[in-house]
Formats: sequence, C-alpha cells, structure tokens
Amino acid sequence: MRAVVLSRVTNAADIRLSEVPVPKVRPGWVLIKVKAFGLNHSEKLLRQSEIQADYIRKPVIPGIECAGEVADPSDTGLPAGQKVIALMGGMGRSFNGSYAEYALLPAQNVFAIESDLPWEVLGAVPETYFTAWGSLFECLCLTVGDTLLIRGATCALGYAAMQLAKALGCKVIATTHRTEKLPLIAAADESILDGGRLTGVLRGVTKALDLVGPRSLKDTLTAVEKGAIVCQTGILGGIYTLNGFDPIKDIPNGVYLTGFFSNYPSRKIIDEIFAFIHEKKLIPVCGKVFDFEHLRDAVAAQEEGTVNGKIVVVMKE
Ligand SMILES: NC(=O)c1ccc[n+]([C@@H]2O[C@H](COP(=O)([O-])OP(=O)(O)OC[C@H]3O[C@@H](n4cnc5c(N)ncnc54)[C@H](OP(=O)(O)O)[C@@H]3O)[C@@H](O)[C@H]2O)c1
Repeated sequence: MRAVVLSRVTNAADIRLSEVPVPKVRPGWVLIKVKAFGLNHSEKLLRQSEIQADYIRKPVIPGIECAGEVADPSDTGLPAGQKVIALMGGMGRSFNGSYAEYALLPAQNVFAIESDLPWEVLGAVPETYFTAWGSLFECLCLTVGDTLLIRGATCALGYAAMQLAKALGCKVIATTHRTEKLPLIAAADESILDGGRLTGVLRGVTKALDLVGPRSLKDTLTAVEKGAIVCQTGILGGIYTLNGFDPIKDIPNGVYLTGFFSNYPSRKIIDEIFAFIHEKKLIPVCGKVFDFEHLRDAVAAQEEGTVNGKIVVVMKE
C-alpha cells in the first residue's frame, strides 16, 4: 500500500508516498480501508518538531483520524465492509495512523456509523467534530440560552464549533486575529478582531471556548461573566503551558475553568454527533478536498495556511 512514513522533522516539500506492506491483522485491532482523512494542526506540530520526542514511534505513519470501511475485522465482531470512523488513542503517534491506504487500529478507537454523507464530508468529522462536541457539551455544558465565545475561530475546530452552537440556537461571538478573516466568521452573531485583549470588550459571555490557548487564557477568564465556564481546547497561540499560573488570582471568583482532550473518543459522543448532524440536516464544514495523490499539496496548503477550514484528503474509488 502507499503511505507517508516519517522518521524525522519533515517539510511539506519532502512529503512522499512510499510503498509499505499492508499491516497484518491482530486480535483487538481492525484493518480499515481508508476512504478519507482530515489534516490536523497537531500533525503539523508532529512533522515540525514533536517527531523528535521519545514517545513517538519511529518510523511512523502520521494521521490521527479517518473515515473508511472495515477491510478485516479480526476478532472484533464488526462486519467486513462496515462504514466506520476512527480517531486518536495514540493513532499516528504511538502506532501508525491514517496517511495510508490501510490503517490497523485498536477496536476501541473505531466506531461503526450509519451515514449517507460522502467520504470527503465524513473525512472532516472524526477529530474535529468529536473535539468540538466534547468541548461544547461535555465541558461547557452548552445550552440554548448561552452566549458562547469562540476565541481563535478561524480554524477547522472553530468553524465546526460555530456550526454546532448556531444549530443549537446559541448566541455566538467569534474572534479572529486577522481583519481580512472577519468575513469568514460572519455566521456568528458578533465577529470580533482579537488584538489580544477582550477583557472589558465583551458583554454577557456565559461559555467560552479558547482555541488560542495559554497565550490568551488569562484574558479569556476575565472577559467572561461571573458564573461562566471557560474551556481550554486549542493551542493556536503557540504557547502550550502556562508557567506561573496562579489559580487563586488568575481564575476570577465564580468563573469555572475546564479543558478538553480528544484522546478518549466514546461511542456515546460519536452517536450524539451523528444524530445531531442528521436531525439538524448539517453538512459538516470542510475547507478544501485533495486527492491522496496530492497529499503533499494538502500538507503544503496546511503549512502555508492557505485553506480556511478543514483540509480533507480522499482516496479515489
Ligand atoms: N484539545 C484537543 O484534544 C484538541 C483536539 C483537536 C484540536 N485541538 C487544537 O485546536 C486548535 C485548532 O485545531 P485545528 O486542527 O482545527 O486547526 P487548523 O484547522 O489547522 O487551523 C489552523 C489555523 O488556525 C488559525 N488561527 C486562528 N487563530 C489563531 C491564532 N490566534 N494564532 C495562530 N493561528 C490562529 C490560523 O490561521 P490564521 O492565522 O490565518 O487565522 C491557522 O491557519 C489547535 O491548536 C489544535 O492543536 C485540540
């Protein structure tokens, strides 16, 4: 099969499809014929630096999610040909991932789905919608009456969260750090240019999804109303931890801080996502679709930031 195989820091220009053996099935693992997969910010971090870390298996096929069909269920009970999505749990890091024609994945990270959405749309769902859903509902307990702030909304996750929250009926305030991208978040009730300080600028925010991360978190905590919940999910600001964070002084009285980590996908949430998509007749949002043969172009587009929204790669039928 063809796959991308990484051993060291790799630029987009050096991404190649190599011939490697189709993985051998083993108990508890499912062989998936990959039909589509999304690119993620975390794969960019893997390619550019994280690959050097000891906990990354090397060589590794990257890719933390995919949509496809069961090629060999092993002992898992899934029918051959079943439509599935799969994500996380070490995929593309501690075991081979989805930048490949086949992926051998642990059964607990593979979820059977019933959906008529085309593969290029399904490819936009697993990681992005699982993370958006988990952040909004498991962490922020979002309800119809909420005013939701999405800080750093011009990313795949931001667009997905905006779509879900609007479909629920919430008021959404979305931010971008680029003036020229304000039209891209015009679907929000308010779109705001984020110069780094929102404290004193916003009114009535009851829930906040911070995708910029530690760079903006302290300000997000003071920009929301008393009683609000702030969920830290993204790290777009390029700072990954908060040294010197003082929970007593930095979290205002009566404001709640939580974080979401997508490493533990569950059947319950995947079912809820597809039920909601179906009920609200949503088409999951996708920025641009590339053929597997043009994977290098997809990775280059991600590196250059030329696509707004989810980049999806599809296999030819
Ligand atoms: N916690 C979890 O488990 C989890 C799961 C999935 C994703 N994430 C995180 O969520 C974030 C979004 O992921 P994604 O895959 O959806 O990203 P993505 O689609 O690859 O989006 C990357 C884009 O975000 C934009 N961006 C928006 N605000 C930014 C800011 N303040 N600074 C820098 N860039 C900014 C950049 O474009 P412009 O600069 O042109 O706006 C960049 O091109 C990432 O930090 C990712 O690591 C976390």
